[in-house]
Amino acid sequence: MAKNVVIVGTQWGDEGKGKVVDWLTDTARGVVRFQGGHNAGHTLVIGGRKQVLRLIPSGILRDDVHCYIGSGVVVSPAALLQEIDEVEAAGIQVRGRLHLSEAATLILPYHVALDQAREAKRGTGAIGTTGRGIGPAYEDRAARRALRTGDLLDAARFRAQLDETLELHNFTLKHFLNAQPLDAQRVADDTLALAERIAPMLADVPSMLAASMARGEPLLFEGAQGALLDVDHGTYPFVTSSNCVAGAAAAGAGVGPQALHAVLGIVKAYTTRVGAGPFPTELHDEVGRHLATVGKEFGSVTGRPRRCGWFDAPALARSIQLNGVSGLVVTKLDVLDGLPVVKLCTAYRHGARTLDMLPFGADAVAHCEPVYEEMPGWSESTVGVRDWSALPVNAQRYLERLAELARAPISLVSTGPDRDETIVLRHPFA
Ligand code: GDP
Ligand code: IMO
Ligand code: MG
Repeated sequence: MAKNVVIVGTQWGDEGKGKVVDWLTDTARGVVRFQGGHNAGHTLVIGGRKQVLRLIPSGILRDDVHCYIGSGVVVSPAALLQEIDEVEAAGIQVRGRLHLSEAATLILPYHVALDQAREAKRGTGAIGTTGRGIGPAYEDRAARRALRTGDLLDAARFRAQLDETLELHNFTLKHFLNAQPLDAQRVADDTLALAERIAPMLADVPSMLAASMARGEPLLFEGAQGALLDVDHGTYPFVTSSNCVAGAAAAGAGVGPQALHAVLGIVKAYTTRVGAGPFPTELHDEVGRHLATVGKEFGSVTGRPRRCGWFDAPALARSIQLNGVSGLVVTKLDVLDGLPVVKLCTAYRHGARTLDMLPFGADAVAHCEPVYEEMPGWSESTVGVRDWSALPVNAQRYLERLAELARAPISLVSTGPDRDETIVLRHPFA
């Protein structure tokens, strides 16, 4: 039986999921996005050439791989078409290979206006969202007033639902948020003008996935964000508005849970976070600057600097519990090269208690003081190393300790952004 693998971020996003999905599409025949939207930014580097993807699954660079956007994803038609244009301009054929669920919620201009006006109103208490309208779109879905991809095919129905939904949002924009209301006619005209290009991509994604599985083709389910940004399990309210844990793959793609055979948890060799919210191991010193500079830690979507800190075992322990991780991929090991000492947070002090697992909610996490273990660093470069035996001994010890703290085996180690800069310990499809 072919194996289907779910790829999830185990931290606060940007762990390197895109690189790992691209690497695994050597074997997989399809890649499915199941949650999130164009708040995601997944960077792929092949032979030194860089491609950033936001909504398009990270399998698109292999021309024999089909890409699916499931109903759990919130889709801005304008952002999707712009991304397709960018990718096609780079010489990659998207048409015919990208299949968009008819049941995905649309992100429309008023979601962006609401997101940005709400953040402005929150002031210093802002979440630090990507400002792409993600939260308001998911709210409309749950409130059963969303417009969905399939609605683009019926202009009359689209306009009627839009009038109803926008009446509410314009009231909020004008009277609660002191922001400009939007013109329903204009939003409808602008959006329906895109329908012609979106329509050929619309598909019954669950049936296509079922047919692919029946042909014995291995599939990848590509998570966006990370478990600690999950709307239920993350550092609420400093989270995104979808479930980003592995279990969400079944619902958001439209397959049964028995179709998910393995879960790969992607973890950076240190920790980063973009936006506001508690971050126990955050560094404001020279080491933090080293991680930010050497790791080029700037958001691939918003360009915002990412906050950086040491590896956090209690946070990873929570993620492993939530996702049921069968193997880890440790990325950006090379960023630690040259540090005389490397530290791992092994537990938190929380008042009089010691915790070995991230507690729930932002307030509890904000009161966690990291307890560190120190290990000697390594001065040799690990950039591009492809064999475990070629790693400096101290880097090997660091990874072994990380796996021991995580109580999970390491499948792959990434030693650079390029597809080929990868060490294979246990092939995830084996
Ligand atoms: P994603 O959102 O999880 O797909 O991650 P991003 O693409 O947003 O951020 C990860 C960044 O690290 C990207 O710029 C990658 O090219 C880069 N990257 C991935 N793996 C490695 C690695 O092992 N070493 C280094 N130096 N960079 C890496
Ligand atoms: P990838 O898939 C890192 C963060 C935002 C903010 C919070 C809520 O590239 O790992 P939202 O716009 O989703 O309402 O913002 O979530 N965030 C991410 N951080 N990587 C991402 O995606 C993110 N997507 C959202 O910075 O703190
Ligand atoms: Mg990213």
